[in-house]
Amino acid sequence: MTIRFLGKTLKNPLVLASGVLGNNKEILERVHASGCGLVTMKSIGFAPRDGHKNPTVIDLGHGMINAVGLPTPGYAHMEAEWEALETRDFPINASIYGGSVKEYQTVAKFVSAKNPDFIEINISCPNSDQHGMIFGVNEQSAFDVVAAVKQVIDLPLIAKLTPQAPDIAKIAKACEDAGADAICAINTAGPGMVIDIEAQMPVLAFKKGGLSGPMIKPIAIRCVYDIYREVSIPIIGLGGVTTGKDAVEMIMAGASLVGIGSGVRYRGMGIFNRVNQELDDWLTAHDTTIKDIRGAAHKKDAVHKHVPLEESPQ
Ligand SMILES: Cc1cc2nc3c(=O)[nH]c(=O)nc-3n(C[C@H](O)[C@H](O)[C@H](O)COP(=O)(O)O)c2cc1C
Repeated sequence: MTIRFLGKTLKNPLVLASGVLGNNKEILERVHASGCGLVTMKSIGFAPRDGHKNPTVIDLGHGMINAVGLPTPGYAHMEAEWEALETRDFPINASIYGGSVKEYQTVAKFVSAKNPDFIEINISCPNSDQHGMIFGVNEQSAFDVVAAVKQVIDLPLIAKLTPQAPDIAKIAKACEDAGADAICAINTAGPGMVIDIEAQMPVLAFKKGGLSGPMIKPIAIRCVYDIYREVSIPIIGLGGVTTGKDAVEMIMAGASLVGIGSGVRYRGMGIFNRVNQELDDWLTAHDTTIKDIRGAAHKKDAVHKHVPLEESPQ
């Protein structure tokens, strides 16, 4: 089932989420060969950064908590990776981040010259121009960074949003107004914390971390649902998807493409082919198409509004 997305043809609607499998060409190639339509790279930052100390990722069974700390070699130190990716025959979405608008611009300009298919800006990082406030929790900051990056690249731009925003739909609208071509939602939720009760201390070395996997799916669905009502650009729905039915739910909330990150931990690399198959099976059993179910959860809103409380199903 091929799909058109921002001028490109993808072999299916599934997207590898940023940060889960790194930037090595052989691995990314394997993800694509395993049934993933669009492969997102690990976020690339401005300056080299080690990330946080171990432990950085804990599997909680129903999802994961991580404080990896955006480790990056820095945009100027990835020659081997870029050289390998030059000969790729699959589409890539290059994820970037910065600590200031200027840093985003510098990294975006450099990375766009490496010819990825899309640039995704991860705006879930503290803004050094604004005293550490996260770019993606403020409409003006989100607008400024999207508009600035748009000025220096000639590629479709995807803005990746954080559910930490008080109103993620308003952030999405600010990104659309600034020229974003698509929205990706969501980054990890939280932050959360896990305490080892015997050691009486937080388990993560960084103490707090972002939540991902099945436990955040309802948050992701709510975010995509809200964003869909506010913008007209396409949405990559991401957060907690591990099955074809999860993908159906995400599409009904309004997603055009469906991302998978932590799911790779739970079902292995085969998750992409399996979710594609489960999605196809569901669509066939219901005699429908992705196009027909996109945003379907919004259609009955008027009815919901008018159901009197005493008649609501228990
Ligand atoms: C270990 C780990 C590393 C991540 N690194 C990044 C990253 O570098 N950039 C980014 O935008 N998101 C990053 N994320 C967030 C994922 O791309 C995704 O938005 C989030 O995990 C929700 O999707 P999921 O529930 O399918 O995992 C990371 C997530 C995990 C678990």
